[in-house]
Amino acid sequence: MTPGFPGFAPEFPGVTLERIQSWLPTIVTAAVVLGAVIVALVVVSRLLRRLAPRVHWYLFGFPLLRTRMRRSWRHLCLNADLTGTDRPTTEQLGPLLVRGRPIMPVLPLLRRIRPRSFGATAVILLHPGQVPEPFVNAAEAMAHAWGVHAVRVDARRRGRVRLTILTADPLTAKRTEAATWATGPPLKEAAMTSRPSEAIEPLASAVAVPADLAADVGQREDGQRWVVDLVTFPHWLITGATQSGKSTLINAAVARWAARPVALVGIDCKGGMELAPHAPRLSALATDRAEAADILAALVAETQRRMGLCRQHGARNIWQLPPDARPVPVVVIVDELAELYLVASRADKDEALRATTNLLRLAQLGAALGVHVIVAGQRVGSDFGPGVTALRAQLAGRICLRVNDEETVKMTLGDLYPDAVDAAQQIDPAVKGIAVTTADEAGWIRARSVYLSPEELAAVIAATAHLAPRLPGLTPPDA
Ligand SMILES: Nc1ncnc2c1ncn2[C@@H]1O[C@H](COP(=O)(O)OP(=O)(O)OP(=O)(O)O)[C@@H](O)[C@H]1O
Ligand SMILES: [Mg+2]
Repeated sequence: MTPGFPGFAPEFPGVTLERIQSWLPTIVTAAVVLGAVIVALVVVSRLLRRLAPRVHWYLFGFPLLRTRMRRSWRHLCLNADLTGTDRPTTEQLGPLLVRGRPIMPVLPLLRRIRPRSFGATAVILLHPGQVPEPFVNAAEAMAHAWGVHAVRVDARRRGRVRLTILTADPLTAKRTEAATWATGPPLKEAAMTSRPSEAIEPLASAVAVPADLAADVGQREDGQRWVVDLVTFPHWLITGATQSGKSTLINAAVARWAARPVALVGIDCKGGMELAPHAPRLSALATDRAEAADILAALVAETQRRMGLCRQHGARNIWQLPPDARPVPVVVIVDELAELYLVASRADKDEALRATTNLLRLAQLGAALGVHVIVAGQRVGSDFGPGVTALRAQLAGRICLRVNDEETVKMTLGDLYPDAVDAAQQIDPAVKGIAVTTADEAGWIRARSVYLSPEELAAVIAATAHLAPRLPGLTPPDA
């Protein structure tokens, strides 16, 4: 019997020095081949990352992320208190009942990790007794554990929590494809609920359809288009500090609606500075509070007329009316809410009350009658008076750009999306136009509006000015 190689014996009795020497070339060849494969993979990965980032993501990035997620899941659950248990958490010890954390925790199941162009999605299946809240709070911990830009947690389906994993911030590019934007829809048309042809063409005779109220205004961080849709959310509140991108966002929306059978009304009590570029396409423009009060009163009268019309036809909203009787939808844009609410003297008070009461009535009555309100402001606070919370309650769509004070963030998002408050406070002031916004299927999401240069906006407005509908009791700004 051949003696075992010293050191290997007796566990490997057949392994001798000669044998090892005879394997050596094979081992060396295997090591060289392995090394070459690794080098080739690294080179291919680097090249792909530069030339075809999406392919790189599916071939290399995503499998790595999935491995990291699976490997860290246990630790993450233990550290972030995401575990459940199938044992009682109380035990009788002599005459005492002792309560404590179970030693044998059960992990929630991390399933369906799927690659997406923006990163990945996954589903967590909860154990009976678990609630989504700790998972929402652990979003930041997940992002750190997996080395990704952000993890969004959506907990609206019972018994499960959906994760949207974003590998990078797609919103920080300098300019969001604006050049091709003014004349046609960018990216996937199918993803948008708008008319197939966005090109600016006469639509004066066309009767509005619900899809006309959806304005594609930019890009969301999950790669989808950011659509402000007045059918899903009839009224919107936009807050943002000065120079954060409120007017830019309004411009993007107006440029979409301008080409469709939609009446636009401007309330700009900063003397008309903000909405002046839209004037030719507006059906009315208020540049001070007195005008605002009059215009809003005329619009309340118009909603009452529409109510009568709906009653006559037995319709519950304007979309149920026969096309030839259907009134044109109206979008009222208020730029700088504070100018309506805050008063300097007693004399201003009555006017402010008239304007804000009519605005609130419009928001309460308008949704079904095709009158929509978009309210923008640098700040919203309790110092505006009790009327402002009543108004906010009607504004279901929320957009929070970068703001300077916590109260405004909480007023904008805190009541509907408490977990969005942090995200809004972290908006980078260096990148303009980023917002945290209502998203129908995801609760809230970050997004960035397209930027239209003043020339691009002017071109859209000039090309659509003749489409401005006349509204009863209102005079267009140019008349
Ligand atoms: N989405 C965006 N992409 C690129 N740049 C943007 C974007 N939004 C805003 N900006 C830049 O920021 C500037 C200020 O934006 P904007 O005028 O919309 O701010 P604002 O919130 O209306 O400010 P104010 O309260 O003073 O009226 C714009 O002129 C533009 O240069
Ligand atoms: Mg502005």
